[in-house]
Amino acid sequence: MKLLFLILFVACISLTSCSQNNAPKDPTHKSKIHVGGNCEGCEAIYESPVPFEQLNSVDTLPDFNDQGPKIEISGIVYQRDGKTPAKDVVLYVYHTDQSGVYPKKGNEIGWAKRHGYIRGWVKSDKNGFYKFYTLVPASYPNSRNPKHIHPTVKETDKNEYWIDEYLFEGDPYLEKEKSDRPPRGGNGIVKPYMKDGMLRATRHIILGLNVPDYPKAIGKKIQSGLAIGTNCPAFDALHFSGADKGKSACPMCKYGYGQGVMVWINYTNLNQLNDFVKRMEICG
Ligand SMILES: [Fe+2]
Repeated sequence: MKLLFLILFVACISLTSCSQNNAPKDPTHKSKIHVGGNCEGCEAIYESPVPFEQLNSVDTLPDFNDQGPKIEISGIVYQRDGKTPAKDVVLYVYHTDQSGVYPKKGNEIGWAKRHGYIRGWVKSDKNGFYKFYTLVPASYPNSRNPKHIHPTVKETDKNEYWIDEYLFEGDPYLEKEKSDRPPRGGNGIVKPYMKDGMLRATRHIILGLNVPDYPKAIGKKIQSGLAIGTNCPAFDALHFSGADKGKSACPMCKYGYGQGVMVWINYTNLNQLNDFVKRMEICG
């Protein structure tokens, strides 16, 4: 009998140990499905110095007061349908300093040993809004790697997963194929512009977009000729016939409102018009 108890005790210890080793990395234990495949370092999102419940929708990264191009990056986090704002989504970002390295102070623990100390956490508000202030990072030293900011997101009912990096339009190292690949989590290429002495940029996030194993959007089927989140192409419709045949002259500008509308309807290829309407719907 004693032997039986001993065997049961050892088995119990072993099982407990195993279950601890296989414990989910998500300390909230709310993830019901695993999305996004493997992600080395995504669990760094749980190293937030502030509990998720207390995170704000705005954060300022530690490098903001250093020398460099200051930038404000903001956007809306949307659900998979690309339209409905998603609240309470945690976003973790980190990037290189002005010399292109992930800087350390020497006392880092956890993933900060690799990600460095220039990192921040925000949580989307009830309107899906988030914003963070930082410096535009530099490319890796002696590389042609575009400057970038790494993001990881965490929804309340899913595991953490990575989305496309923030990249910067105008970066000479930004390869064309990067902008043509299916955007994961929405288009990550931001277009900084100067306002009130600081760069500003917008990046909306579409949860689950092109993320493996992510549940399909529920509800109305998305009507789109373009992948949601991609850049809207320029509309360069040409007149189908008439005096401006083959030209892209704006009829409103050339003939005036009213007459211009008639000219537009008469002269424009109907397929192009339909295409235009579709794109307007998509670009909204
Ligand atoms: Fe990187």
